[in-house]
Amino acid sequence: MSKKPTTVQIKLGQASYDVVIGNQLMKDIGVWVTPLLNRKHTAIVMDTHVADLYRDELTATFNKHDIKHQTIVLQAGEQTKSFEQLQGLLNHLLESKIERHDTIIAFGGGVIGDICGFAASVLRRGVGIIHLPTTLLAQVDSAIGGKTGINTPHGKNLVGTFHQPKLVLADTDFLDTLGSRNLRAGYAEVVKYGALGNRSFFNWLENHGTTILSGNKAHLTEAVIESVRAKAQIIEQDVFESGSRQLLNLGHTFAHALETESGHNETLLHGEAVAIGIVLAFDLSVRLGYCPSSELARVKSHFASIGLPTRIREVLRPSWSVKALINHMQQDKKIVDGKLSFVLVRSIGDAFLCTDVRTGVLNSVLTDSFAESELEKAAQKSNV
Ligand code: GLY
Repeated sequence: MSKKPTTVQIKLGQASYDVVIGNQLMKDIGVWVTPLLNRKHTAIVMDTHVADLYRDELTATFNKHDIKHQTIVLQAGEQTKSFEQLQGLLNHLLESKIERHDTIIAFGGGVIGDICGFAASVLRRGVGIIHLPTTLLAQVDSAIGGKTGINTPHGKNLVGTFHQPKLVLADTDFLDTLGSRNLRAGYAEVVKYGALGNRSFFNWLENHGTTILSGNKAHLTEAVIESVRAKAQIIEQDVFESGSRQLLNLGHTFAHALETESGHNETLLHGEAVAIGIVLAFDLSVRLGYCPSSELARVKSHFASIGLPTRIREVLRPSWSVKALINHMQQDKKIVDGKLSFVLVRSIGDAFLCTDVRTGVLNSVLTDSFAESELEKAAQKSNV
């Protein structure tokens, strides 16, 4: 049954747009999209996975509304966020005769949203984009706020632009076909909003995390709406990330380093890296004396209770080293004058930016996360 959708407006002056959250939105996509198109001509970009599931249905709805469209299908997976794929996509869009005042549709998860956003921002010096996010991660985070980008061997999202969409349509029905691992990974970004700025949302997630991830649609939708509201508040204050928007990177300096070390592939999903990264950010905050250790324990135990990794050791490869991770962090976009800055916390719901973290303490946080836990050591002993 379709329920009335919820709209969260992102207020950015002339660049304002709506994020519409609800179910059964795709069947009426023509109704949502048509008023925003300069002419009834678009290109829809999706990945192979989304194409298998939804291409025919989506094409039918565009046909119903007489919107002429090309579909462009990219390979599913993080590897698609590359210079090579970006070039191919731009050529496809030009072949599809997308003009300066046209709008393209990004239909998929974070990878499709990021590469399409980048392509839209540079094609003919900027065309419009509408996001139709299909993963939890994209619905609560990457489709909102206009960040675009691709990865390079130097790190994740190091090349990109800011380019706000005209509309984000978050149809929670897409989450029904998302595998449980992907849903859990997206949930790490939901927890992030509670951990960085909304303690009561974190409390609510502690009580509802399990039901959210086991298919309770009402709770899941509520979690998406709260996350979008939290993100809206932050980006409205600082759209270009010169200040408070950096708080949205809680755990991400660690996460990006882990993803770079793992080669940006599906062996470590972004949200899994973010869960570990958030725990490491709390750990760093505890060791620097900013935060009580009981807060770290709560965050760790919530992630663990829903099956997300909390320590590097859980995802570790033999080739990884603390030194390599720190080197990756030194490529972080937030680096200023070569000084590493981290989003730290005073407690759950109270994050701040610390621009001067010493490598020594960072080294010990990472070393401990690489090492066997006390539990593992005890188990080893009892096996001897
Ligand atoms: N994903 C963090 C941001 O949009 O700023």
